[in-house]
Formats: sequence, structure tokens, C-alpha cells
Amino acid sequence: MIPFSFARVPTLHFGPGKIRLLPELILQRSEPHVLLVTGGRSLQANGHLDRILELFTASGIRVEQVICSGEPSTQWVDDHCNTYRDRDIGTVVAIGGGSVIDGGKALSAMLLHQNSIFDHLEGVGKGLPHSGIKLPFIAVPTTSGTGSEVTKNAVISQVGAAGYKKSLRHENLVPDVVLVDGELLVSCPPDITAACGLDAFTQLVEPYLSPTATPLTDAIAWSGLEAFKTNFLAACGPGATDPQVREGMAYAALMSGIALANAGLGIVHGLASPLGGYFPIPHGVACGTLVAQSLKVNWQALKERAPESPAIAKMIRLGRLLSNIDGNTNNGNANNGNPDDWHGQICGELIDQWTDQLQIPRLGKYGLQTTHLDKVLDGTRNRNNPVALNRDEIRSMLLARL
Ligand SMILES: [Fe+2]
Repeated sequence: MIPFSFARVPTLHFGPGKIRLLPELILQRSEPHVLLVTGGRSLQANGHLDRILELFTASGIRVEQVICSGEPSTQWVDDHCNTYRDRDIGTVVAIGGGSVIDGGKALSAMLLHQNSIFDHLEGVGKGLPHSGIKLPFIAVPTTSGTGSEVTKNAVISQVGAAGYKKSLRHENLVPDVVLVDGELLVSCPPDITAACGLDAFTQLVEPYLSPTATPLTDAIAWSGLEAFKTNFLAACGPGATDPQVREGMAYAALMSGIALANAGLGIVHGLASPLGGYFPIPHGVACGTLVAQSLKVNWQALKERAPESPAIAKMIRLGRLLSNIDGNTNNGNANNGNPDDWHGQICGELIDQWTDQLQIPRLGKYGLQTTHLDKVLDGTRNRNNPVALNRDEIRSMLLARL
């Protein structure tokens, strides 16, 4: 058996109506005083926020509200910590997309400390380890993408020429509880559903193909990939208002977070960090726009330079799953009469078609030009890619999506 370690997973509550458990879960953990982090608009617009506030009121829980309308910055975290540090907050609750959950996670980590979060950010701050002492934190994802609800890091962004996208990280920062309720997911708009869905797909594929994958992470990633295949296109179209379809995508995202926390990520996420630091490119778009190219480039590089890699058989299995258009996932075993090579190749081609069909934005829309590529490439790492890609191969991925 391959030796492995496995990161802590939050207590998970998954299913319709699970949001109603929220007051009880808070009262089990702390005083009835909550810092509630939400996004800018949709939770309020669709009436969910009022329903949740009514749940709090009925349970005698006091609420302070904080808006996180973009990816959280160092300044955003420090300002809110200064405001709420002395107000006896008991539990932090974040209800929203990946940025909101990262924001809530960072506040829960820093509210009990006097210093700036910058001191603890990897690679840019003082490099001080976080103590792991934090407030209880409950995450309620409303988009299905980053998997931040099950990971131990909060991504903090500073966009600009000297920009960065760096993590605050500690084992204890894994949320204490995650609630996934399909009723909260149906209002996610189509463009965000598409980009976040492809981010979740990337976070399933990259751990699945990772050299540090284990049988356990493979089982988790594959389970998420099956849910993605069954629900992704429906969630972006006719099934958008179907809570079961939305839950399928939320399940895929949840599995992606567990898989990436334990098997790592590859070249797409290696590129997403500098791209998102230098340009205002949402994380889901950066990953969604590049993942098809990564599958194409990886397939070629694996065949040329790593023909013994287990990632070859895995890509063939993935091609069988994705190309099986009768809706039956067939556990990736059906071959549709096509040879193995065809199935390895089709992964990138199919996802490319979906990228076009769903109009995932190109990188040029956010200001990336050919003159910027060297700077982006300098900040890119292969991470746990199944095969080390050279600079020209990585450049070709960016050029294809400029
Ligand atoms: Fe991601």
C-alpha cells in the first residue's frame, strides 16, 4: 500500500433544508453572537438572507454583517479585524462563493490576534506560522467551485503590478462545519456557474492525475468527476433551477476540495496564481479557460516523455467518462468502440468544446497580452503536474487562450 496522510475534513451536512441546522450548530460552539460574511448582492436579492436572519433572530443569536464583494485583500481582513476584535464574536459564518468563504476563514483565523494577516501570508509576508488559534467557523457555499469550504488555507489577493495571491494556511483553519443546501445554490448566475464548475473540474482532474495521488484521493476525485459529468452542462442551462442538479455540482466541488487538499494541484493552478495576482481575472475563469489546454498539452507530454505514468491510463478512463453521451457514467469503463489513444485525446477536445459553448472568457479580456507572458511564466510552477512541462508548452496554453 502507498503510504499517505489525510487532512482533517469538516463535519459535513449535505442536502435540502440543511441551512436550518445553522443556529443549533452555532449555539453548540459559542456564545450567540455571530459575524456573518456574505457576498455583495445575490443572497439579499433572492430573499435567502432574510430567511437566514429570521432563523438567527428566532434562536436569540445576535448578528454582525460583513460584505466581501471580491477576493479578500490584506486590507479587508485587517480592517474588519480592527472593527470586530473587541466585540466578543462567538462564531464566524460565511455564506457565499469561494471568496466569501476565504474571507470568513481569514477573519476566524485573525480575530483573536492583534497583528496583520500579512505577517502570515506565504511568500510575501514575514513568513510567521499561524498559531492555529481561531474562532469557530462555519462555511455555507452558494457557488460550486473553489472547494474552499473543506481546505485549510484562505487565499488573500492583491491585484496589480506588484500583486499577489497568497495563502494563510494552518491545519486548524479547515472549517469546523460545512452546510451544503441545494436551495441556496439555484440562484448562482450562468457565467459564474460555468467558470466555477470548470474550476471544480480542474480541482478534480489535477489531484486525480497528480503524482502524489493515492487510492483514497482517486476514489474521492473520481466520485466528484462522475457528479461533474452528470450535472455540469445541465447546471449551466436547463437544470439551473433544479436543486438536485445544483447539489450534484456542489458535491463535485466538495470532493474537489478534499482531493486537492490531499493530492495537490497541477499546471492550471500553477498559472492561476500569477494570472490572478497581476490581472483582475476571477479564479474560476483563469482555471476554466485553461483546463482544456492543460489536458491537451499534458496528454502529448505524457505520451512523449512519461509513457509509463499512471496518468496515461487515468486520462483514458476520464475520456471514456466524458465522451459517454448517453448520460450513463459507466464508471469510465465503456470504450464506445474507440481506441485508448482517442479517449486520452478527447478529454481536452471535449472540454475545449464546452469552454466555447459556455463562452468562458479569454485571458485577453482582462488585459493579458503577449508582452506579459514572460512575467507570468516566471511566477508559474508545475506544482503536482503529472509530467514536468517546459516553458514553451506552458506558454502555448496561455497563447491558445489569449
Ligand atoms: Fe481552483
